[in-house]
Amino acid sequence: MSTPKSAEPRPIDPDWLAVDQYLVDTLLGADPALDHALAANADAELPPIDVSRAQGEMLGLLVRATGARRVLEVGTLGGFSTICLARGVGADGSVITCEYEPRHAEVARSNIDSADVGDRVEIRVGAALDTLAALAEENAGPFDFVFLDADKENNANYLELSMALTHPGSLIVVDNVIRRGAAANPDTDDERTLGTRAALEWLGSDERVDATAVQTVGTKGWDGFAMAVVR
Ligand SMILES: C[S@@+](CC[C@H](N)C(=O)[O-])C[C@H]1O[C@@H](n2cnc3c(N)ncnc32)[C@H](O)[C@@H]1O
Repeated sequence: MSTPKSAEPRPIDPDWLAVDQYLVDTLLGADPALDHALAANADAELPPIDVSRAQGEMLGLLVRATGARRVLEVGTLGGFSTICLARGVGADGSVITCEYEPRHAEVARSNIDSADVGDRVEIRVGAALDTLAALAEENAGPFDFVFLDADKENNANYLELSMALTHPGSLIVVDNVIRRGAAANPDTDDERTLGTRAALEWLGSDERVDATAVQTVGTKGWDGFAMAVVR
């Protein structure tokens, strides 16, 4: 079996872009709050590494479908995915989102407030390993839904820490687990890919979860999500 050897960026297939645009136009339509968040992120020179519009809506639908009321996110950036998650939990739900960079958190706070979901979102600034440990110490869980989208090197650690912050039936979603196919390369020396492989191996071997993963293509290139339900 051949395996992709690199996680380096490649041009995104124009067909993938066109299909994503078709899906947004057909299924989703305009969303001024999310458009505003992306524009504010660009103005603040945040990296454009948010989930896509269709992916964000998928996260919101998963939150609604699972009836999740308490969501934990690791990796806020400018709050694009946070807004989708916060919409999903509804007015009586809550989201705690963890971000290392104070400047990202500041932009996210403004975007989240502008989207009228600020009352249900708490941003915790700091290294997420510390934040998750602190949340466990505070008995802040259990969370019904966890979304991991920060430093991939720590994803297996975040999964382990999530076990103390979830309950049977909680859904955990991990972004960027395919990495242009590099995840399937056992010879990779890319730290993020190694972290991703460690997370996938954790998901495949830990008896506290049932997990799968799917590849995706679109505006974010060739990537994918892992999903796990806590037993
Ligand atoms: C891919 S972006 C998150 C995108 C966001 N989930 C979205 O879709 O809108 C990853 C974020 O994780 C943050 N991050 C990286 N390492 C972190 C850490 N150790 N603890 C907390 N946040 C971290 C980065 O600063 C960045 O803002």
